[in-house]
Amino acid sequence: MNAVAVFDTAIDRAASGIPAAFTARHASGGVHRFDPAAWCGDVIAGDDALIGCCTGSTLDVGCGPGRLTSALVGAGLPALGIDVSASAVRLARRRGAPALRRDVFGPVPAAGRWRHLLLADGNIGIGGDPYRLLRRCRQLLVADGRLHAELAPAGTPAWSGTATVQAADGTDRALPWACVPPDDLPVLADGTAMRVLDTWTEAGRWFATLAPR
Ligand SMILES: C[S@@+](CC[C@H](N)C(=O)[O-])C[C@H]1O[C@@H](n2cnc3c(N)ncnc32)[C@H](O)[C@@H]1O
Repeated sequence: MNAVAVFDTAIDRAASGIPAAFTARHASGGVHRFDPAAWCGDVIAGDDALIGCCTGSTLDVGCGPGRLTSALVGAGLPALGIDVSASAVRLARRRGAPALRRDVFGPVPAAGRWRHLLLADGNIGIGGDPYRLLRRCRQLLVADGRLHAELAPAGTPAWSGTATVQAADGTDRALPWACVPPDDLPVLADGTAMRVLDTWTEAGRWFATLAPR
C-alpha cells in the first residue's frame, strides 16, 4: 500500500463516520498525527487566517476533501484543489470545490502562474522531502507569488523520509512524510531559493509565508 492508498482509506473511513485518525512514526522517534475527520469538516480553527492571506488565484496542494478550497471559492477567489487521493477529490467536488486528481510533482494546471499556494494541515510533509516539495512549489508560483505553509509547532523535532503507519488491519504501511518546525524553516528556505516573509500562530497552529527569492 502506498501513500495514495493510506490517504484513500483514511478519508473513506472518516467520510463514513468511522474513526480514522492515524499516526505516522519515523525511525528518529518523530511522530505526526493525522485527523481525517477534521479534514471532512467545514472549518478548523485558524483556517480563516490562512484564507485571509490569499488575495488571488490559489492552489490548495493536498486539498483532501476540499475544506479550504471551498472556503477560498466562497471568499470569491479563483482556486483549485489538487490531491493524489481519488476519494479526496470526489468528496471535494461533492462540496462544490474545484478539484483535480494530480500529484504535485507531476503536471499541474497553470504551473508558474499561481499567486498563492497552500500547504495546510502539515502538507509541507508531502513526499517526505521538504526540499524537493518547496522547489516544486516555487516552480508552480508566479515570480512574486506566496507560499503559505502550516508547520509543526515550535519545539517539535524535525524529521523527513519514510514513516510507518499502522493500518486498521494492524499491518504497517510506509508513508513518505516530514515534520518541519519553524526553527528549521530558514535553512529550508535558503536551500530552495525561497525566503521567509512571516511566521505566525493562530488557534494553536503554526504557519509561515514564503516567497521565491
Ligand atoms: C494532511 S492531508 C491534508 C488534508 C487537507 N488539507 C484537508 O483540508 O482536508 C494530506 C493530503 O495530501 C494528499 N497528498 C499526499 N501526497 C500528495 C502529492 N504528492 N500530491 C498531491 N496531494 C498529495 C493526500 O492524499 C491527503 O489528502
